[in-house]
Amino acid sequence: MKIEVIRGALEDLNTPLLIINYFKDDIDKQIIKDKLLVKLDQDYDGLIQQSVERMEMRGESSSSVFIPEKNRSLLLLGSGKLKDFDVEDLKSLTAKGIRRAKSKGFTQMAFYIRGLEDMTHRISLLTESLYVGNYSFDLFKGKPEEDKPKTVIESIQIISESTDLKMDQRMAEEGEIIGQSINFAQDMINRPANHCTPTILAEQARDFSSKSSLELTILEQKDVESMNMGSFLSVAAGSKEPLKFIVMRHNPSTKTGTEKIALVGKGVTFDTGGISLKPSANMHEMKGDMSGAAAVIGAMVAISMLNLPIEVIGIVPATENMPSGNATKPGDIVKAMNGTTIEVLNTDAEGRLILADALCYAVKEKATRIIDVATLTGACVVALGEITTGVLGNDQDFVNRFMETCHTTGEKIWQLPLFKKYHEQLKSDVADLANIGGKYAGTITAASFLEKFVDKTPWIHLDIAGTNWASNENYHSKGGTGIKVTSFVHFIKELAS
Ligand code: BES
Ligand code: ZN
Ligand code: ZN
Repeated sequence: MKIEVIRGALEDLNTPLLIINYFKDDIDKQIIKDKLLVKLDQDYDGLIQQSVERMEMRGESSSSVFIPEKNRSLLLLGSGKLKDFDVEDLKSLTAKGIRRAKSKGFTQMAFYIRGLEDMTHRISLLTESLYVGNYSFDLFKGKPEEDKPKTVIESIQIISESTDLKMDQRMAEEGEIIGQSINFAQDMINRPANHCTPTILAEQARDFSSKSSLELTILEQKDVESMNMGSFLSVAAGSKEPLKFIVMRHNPSTKTGTEKIALVGKGVTFDTGGISLKPSANMHEMKGDMSGAAAVIGAMVAISMLNLPIEVIGIVPATENMPSGNATKPGDIVKAMNGTTIEVLNTDAEGRLILADALCYAVKEKATRIIDVATLTGACVVALGEITTGVLGNDQDFVNRFMETCHTTGEKIWQLPLFKKYHEQLKSDVADLANIGGKYAGTITAASFLEKFVDKTPWIHLDIAGTNWASNENYHSKGGTGIKVTSFVHFIKELAS
């Protein structure tokens, strides 16, 4: 997919399809009043005005009108009121535009999206959204039927009004890199667990990062044993698939400061619950329990390709969580890398067990800030649904800064408190810590557990148990979302500047 940013008048544009958005404000009492649309309407012999009169074009964000034309067809996308148009609208509108165009068989098109003036990363996000909209998971689908060949997008033009076209082109290149990284994460999440074992995840990470200059290390069982990661090992104990501990380093020669950021992602390639077995209904969804890992690997490759001037280390503990004769049993006591003993009261609370050692590893690496990302608790899905990621942390300034970035990338996020009082729910009679905190405040007690392993390092935890998966097509197609890849890249970029 070739993407090019251009400037110029619409009439000179050479494309089989122009995709343009319009606002409720562009129409007044069933008459087009916006100058540009009036001009366009003349080019199309009044067809736009006609669709306004037929009430097809009213500006609602769900509405769209397609005007086929021999020379250049037109796809008009309703965008609501201009004053309400935000970055999430930009993203879903763009994704919708490319999907519609593709369904009509167009392989080339031009986008002219209006109303972007106040958006920070507009061209980058627009480009990223083209990749998200164009994405489909068909690794396991047979050959497309002959009468319905698959449409492959060749080239897209983005029409920009900015005066700095070079800058826009650079932002489009950034968006391409991020978009491809999101697609990588989506692919990994959508793969079923038999095609995404810890070994395959590590291989895919190696493959995908080969185009970057990341330094990749894959630690095996014996390495993890020698580092005393008893907590991580206890989760892997029940599985026949060997565990992998994936470390990705981005250490550029030019750096703007002395920060070293650790991104830590939960990589449970399938979560059966272990001996505390999950109910069978919808258990297949637990193939997505490595979405945190996918986000970290995707973001690390993008960070490296963009050569952001800051040191970043990506850490992914990867394993299955299975019941077997070797599996950890409820009540077992295990010891994490930092010496903390943990009573495993529920083997289904495995994410925090693998993250505990990964966080210790980040501390040992002398990370100056740690972000972990995990499909950690069903409680977070109950609280925030599929729409919003939960964030908790030990450093309010850090939380605020990250939330601010998510605001500019259109990935919704909301903070939950980490008051000390919640730590009491994790008391164990026989060990330093229990791995579950009772019925209430499940997302908070999970984060409280993690906090015990970050020492005093500024840290934030992201619970993506709801946002990693889209049940319906919206901005993302159904399935894995690759959530947080873009926020990570933009956040790291801001930290580096
Ligand atoms: N992977 C699950 C969390 C999850 C639930 C992710 C739903 C996506 C959708 C996690 O390992 C888990 O099982 N958590 C338990 C913790 C409980 C035993 C304290 C949960 O949330 O029920
Ligand atoms: Zn679990
Ligand atoms: Zn899990």
